[in-house]
Amino acid sequence: MVKAKMTFPPDFLWGTATSAHQVEGNNDNNDWWQFEQGDGNIVNGHKSGLACDWWRNAEQDLDAAAEMGTNALRISLEWSRIEPRPGQYDQAALGRYREILLAMIKRGIEPMVCLHHFTNPLWLVEQGDFNNDNVADLFQRYTATAVDALGDLVLKWLTLNEPMVYVFSRYLDGVYPKPSVEGFSGARQAFENLLRCHAAAYYTIKDKYPQAPAGVAKQFRVFEAPRDGSALDRWWAGRLSNIFNHAWMKAMQSGRLAPPFGRSAIKNLAGAFDFCGINYYTRSSVRFRPRQGLFVEEWAEDAVVGDANYGEVYPYGLYRVIRMALPYQKPIYITENGLPDSEDRLRPAFILDHLRQIWHAISFCYPVMGYYHWSLIDNFEWERGWTQRFGLIAMDEETQERSWRPSAFLYQEICRSYGISSDMAARYAPQMLYVMFPGSAPAVL
Ligand code: BGC
Repeated sequence: MVKAKMTFPPDFLWGTATSAHQVEGNNDNNDWWQFEQGDGNIVNGHKSGLACDWWRNAEQDLDAAAEMGTNALRISLEWSRIEPRPGQYDQAALGRYREILLAMIKRGIEPMVCLHHFTNPLWLVEQGDFNNDNVADLFQRYTATAVDALGDLVLKWLTLNEPMVYVFSRYLDGVYPKPSVEGFSGARQAFENLLRCHAAAYYTIKDKYPQAPAGVAKQFRVFEAPRDGSALDRWWAGRLSNIFNHAWMKAMQSGRLAPPFGRSAIKNLAGAFDFCGINYYTRSSVRFRPRQGLFVEEWAEDAVVGDANYGEVYPYGLYRVIRMALPYQKPIYITENGLPDSEDRLRPAFILDHLRQIWHAISFCYPVMGYYHWSLIDNFEWERGWTQRFGLIAMDEETQERSWRPSAFLYQEICRSYGISSDMAARYAPQMLYVMFPGSAPAVL
């Protein structure tokens, strides 16, 4: 068979992504842990428990990440471990994070570190967390401690993970731990305070390490009306895209809030980011049905979806969201991309087709510098507990046993050869040579 190859730039980062609460285990001093104890909050009453046991032994999975040929890993720090009580810092916890970062570097894996990935210390929740207008000072103090203790080992920083998803899921959708002020007014205040937190953390990092790039992992999503949608549905999809994808980005760029969140200026915010972190998962097909909630989502009949109807697999959307980020004129990292697929039915084709979209973007000289697959290993999937499996590596949370899914071997070949080729598709996803995901650009392989 003739072999066609798409080669990536030699300095491209091949990574995977995780977050503290989802992998560390026994994070019992934060709001998610508390939420997991409540009835009906998590599907099937699942709990994070020992998670992937990283607090005791991240090293075993770091060995696997190195063996897989990855050269980058995104982790997050757990605020409630570093600052278990207000103003008191746990040196042992900081020491353990140093050990984990050193273990990554020793294995040739470049650390990208996120300061906040959905969880808050319980003491902060008691103070109203993002509905307390002091929160940016508290976040700044925590960031300064983390940067002083760990900054020499961190190559890239993320201040926050998916602020828009966080605000939506916690304040409007109500599937995350309850905030002290619910509804739109709580959401608006949290949005503004998250921007303040970001600006404060950004300059705290830059003061000490001016060369270390810092940004936000921002979820981007394609919003569209269904094929038979009305003009109103199309208008609404455009509005949602604008708010969900661009309100946060425009605020970071201009230093001002944008409607519907207000117009006020935020100190030190304008231009305070060095790269765009894009988390991309899916396309939302939406109709304007105000009486049934903010939006009603549906999929076309031929849509391919991940486990438990997680969402449509739409690789071309990755190319589209990369284009959405171009006006911000910064380097781009794909800081998350993956799907729940316990049987690895779709994942090999998913990986190949999403990387093909990145290659396509790079061929236009769009500055995509790295890819972090979500996730290295099955982990605690928030309100969906252990029902969704995003790992390249499968893990049984009862026995802690690990096994590589075919996708892990595929990703290993990709990372080691710096590219994707037609023989990989033939071996791992033969269906891909003939049938692409609906709506994807025609296959080039
Ligand atoms: C989050 C991850 C999560 C993933 C899959 C992202 O929104 O940042 O923590 O596991 O989606 O649902």
